[in-house]
Amino acid sequence: MNFRKLSFTDAPLIKVTPPGPKSKEFLEYQFSHEGSAVSYPKGMPMAVRYASGATVEDVDGNKYIDFFGGAGVMNVGHSNPEVIEAASSQIVNLTHSLDFPNPARRSMVGILHSLLPAELNKVFFGGPTGSDAVEAAMKLAKYNTGRYPMIAFEGSYHGMSAGALSLSSGLGFKEDFLPMLPEVHFIPYAYCYRCPFGKEPETCNLDCAQYLEHILEDPHSGVGKPAAVIIEAIQGEGGSIVPPEKFIPKIREICNKHEILMIIDEIQAGLCRTGKMFAFEHSKVLPDIITLSKGLGGVGFPISCIAYKEGLDTWPAGKHIGTFRGNVVAYAAGSAALNFMVENNLAEHALNLGGLMLSWLKEIEKDSKIIGEARGKGLMLGVELVRDKETKEPAPELASMVRSYCHRNGLLIEIGGHYFNVARFLPPLVITEELAMKGVEIFRDAVIEAEKLL
Ligand SMILES: Cc1ncc(COP(=O)(O)O)c(C=O)c1O
Repeated sequence: MNFRKLSFTDAPLIKVTPPGPKSKEFLEYQFSHEGSAVSYPKGMPMAVRYASGATVEDVDGNKYIDFFGGAGVMNVGHSNPEVIEAASSQIVNLTHSLDFPNPARRSMVGILHSLLPAELNKVFFGGPTGSDAVEAAMKLAKYNTGRYPMIAFEGSYHGMSAGALSLSSGLGFKEDFLPMLPEVHFIPYAYCYRCPFGKEPETCNLDCAQYLEHILEDPHSGVGKPAAVIIEAIQGEGGSIVPPEKFIPKIREICNKHEILMIIDEIQAGLCRTGKMFAFEHSKVLPDIITLSKGLGGVGFPISCIAYKEGLDTWPAGKHIGTFRGNVVAYAAGSAALNFMVENNLAEHALNLGGLMLSWLKEIEKDSKIIGEARGKGLMLGVELVRDKETKEPAPELASMVRSYCHRNGLLIEIGGHYFNVARFLPPLVITEELAMKGVEIFRDAVIEAEKLL
């Protein structure tokens, strides 16, 4: 398919500096009638009306290039016609089925089985969000091992429900709601730009992964034998962190040696985003359990699932339930989206275009005083902003300035990272080279503007 026709051809187009008058009216209504935890419209003030492919239109008629992608949901593009067609045909027939079999569900399960490694031959649909999948994965691990402790990683994000939040590293999200689940232990991820061991990736001995081995073997580490390690193969909210090639295999090896289950959270990095259907495929390991959500519902229909090895399928009927166990419209939309991904080689497109975008960002990095590191894989990219390239002092205020500049000039981006200083790009994977280039140019100008404020 020619991806060009999926997006608005005249984006970026700023008719009135956002937020325009209509957006302002929506925002005022929202802020006076909705809870104060609403967040994205505070960073990118606008109300949205239409979205197509890798572009979004606000209520004032401004059109944006979308490097935000609904926080990594829109892999096949906003309003993807094949997905909309499938969802529309489904919606008039059946929309809710708990866990009764139905044709749409069967089709989704069949496609997932054809894409997953043969060993992950059980799929299970719980609640609709990524957090729900994380809860289910953790419960399955605990049920099978009879153990309680969990190992998670610094920089991780796994969701907002109690268990998923306990596995997430951001203190800002949880310190006011303590206590979290007990016996969750955080260990360093391979965040080489800020290696806690002061090593360089070329010469280190994967000290971060070795640290897991150390805490498992030292009877005074204070860490009981865990049920599972939960890890993102490429960290998303942590700042688009791609670990060295041997990191994930080393964690797998340690899990095998100590008979600990390995859960790979594919909610953000999965479904073609990083250049493979599943991000764990880059490291050629086989997880015991994976979690999927975000792009799984095609164009934002909420659904999540876990996939796991048959040997773990020990829990009895009803051990893990919920009113929304899967979503029939999302099965239809998701099946169409998965087919679209395969038929259009979306993984390859993401890998190639992402590689090109990274090379442009690396060029910008060379001339910039505030870009500490541009990194990523496929179309999961991040640019870490610092006040000083030597000291690496994080610059969250510059990151929000960059985001505002981008928004005012027709580009939507996300901010994340340990210090909220990483500009993150998660565009719909159907983005064209032309739009990607225009977006990177706006970003470059934003960085130049932000630099003036140093
Ligand atoms: C890796 C990862 N896991 C889990 C989640 C939680 O998903 P949800 O927001 O749908 O609960 C996210 C959300 O950003 C995520 O990036």
